[in-house]
Amino acid sequence: NSNWIDATEEDSVPEDDVIGLQVGGRDIALYKVEGSIFATDNTCTHGHARLCDGFLDGYEIECPLHQGKFDVRNGRGTCAPVTEDVRSYPVRIEDGRVFVQMS
Ligand code: FES
Repeated sequence: NSNWIDATEEDSVPEDDVIGLQVGGRDIALYKVEGSIFATDNTCTHGHARLCDGFLDGYEIECPLHQGKFDVRNGRGTCAPVTEDVRSYPVRIEDGRVFVQMS
């Protein structure tokens, strides 16, 4: 069963940037790259750092703690010391709102 949750306004995610927020009881990072929005878990898989405090470079988010990297489109770990992908979530835009599929 699909479980789409209204996360926020589309405009509240700045272009080429990342924000963190609670969606469905989880800490989620939302990214906007070239007008498209992507969602992943906000906690790094390597340690206890929030990806929303990191640096977004194109489609890659760099963790603020040890500079590991993930592809925001699919959560794939792309740079050491990250060895585990971060969970990513489908996103849909409707009437200027961002919906994230949590299950
Ligand atoms: Fe993210 Fe170490 S906590 S790379």
